Amino acid sequence: MNKEVLLQLKNISVHYGGVKALDGVDIDIDEGEIIALMGPNGAGKSTMLKTIFGLTPIQGGKVFWHERELKPVSYEIVEMGIVFVPQGRRVFSSMTVEENLEIGGYIFRDSKKVKRQMTEVLDTFPALKSKRKEKAGVLSGGQQQMVALARGLMTDPKVLLLDEPSLGLAPKIVKEVFAKIKEINERHKTAIMVVEHNTKSLLEITNRAYVLDKGKIVVHKTSQELLGNDILEKVFMGSL
Ligand SMILES: Nc1ncnc2c1ncn2[C@@H]1O[C@H](COP(=O)(O)OP(=O)(O)OP(=O)(O)O)[C@@H](O)[C@H]1O
Ligand SMILES: [Mg+2]
Repeated sequence: MNKEVLLQLKNISVHYGGVKALDGVDIDIDEGEIIALMGPNGAGKSTMLKTIFGLTPIQGGKVFWHERELKPVSYEIVEMGIVFVPQGRRVFSSMTVEENLEIGGYIFRDSKKVKRQMTEVLDTFPALKSKRKEKAGVLSGGQQQMVALARGLMTDPKVLLLDEPSLGLAPKIVKEVFAKIKEINERHKTAIMVVEHNTKSLLEITNRAYVLDKGKIVVHKTSQELLGNDILEKVFMGSL
């Protein structure tokens, strides 16, 4: 069975002044899959996610959502079903876990719906249930990352864009975060694109991988093909 292509980027270019952060990039995200987006520092990974989410103006190329051309504007994108969880666990630290989740569900404009969704999301994050009245700022780094992921799920998105969810976390917590990402994908059928430097763990939970280097896609393979292959090493060493 062919899965439907949800999101398609064709020949996308993004320049910051003289810097070509993205240079003619093609990417597809199909329904329900997990995709890795990897590459060295400055390759353009964060720019890619920001571009999908309408946070950077594009100089060239087109974005399609269900085969219809999209003019990315963040608030419309959330309503369509795309959510971006940026780098750095940006939780609202002086608000409780519950309040953070409420903000994630802002598009519903219906408090009963927000409550229902919160119950569902907390079922995926049982560890946050007992912390729901605590201020997010007092939680550990790993717990804050879980809050950021949970907040992203409050709109029940079709596509979740995650920028370095494991950054700065201890190895044991990194494992938990990756397991949670996989669980979100399986439970909610959410398509997920993950940017990570932790490439081995990432390839273990993803179906396909794109490798960006200097604004161009240099590798596009199944994660299985990339595991145990030295292409990645070459890209990171700059010798591809
Ligand atoms: N707001 C900006 N203004 C100017 N240049 C920028 C801006 N954001 C990114 N860049 C440049 O665009 C290129 C791509 O940056 P980007 O943040 O997308 O890379 P990245 O792959 O996410 O890197 P990292 O792994 O370090 O997070 C880099 O050369 C960066 O310096
Ligand atoms: Mg980045």
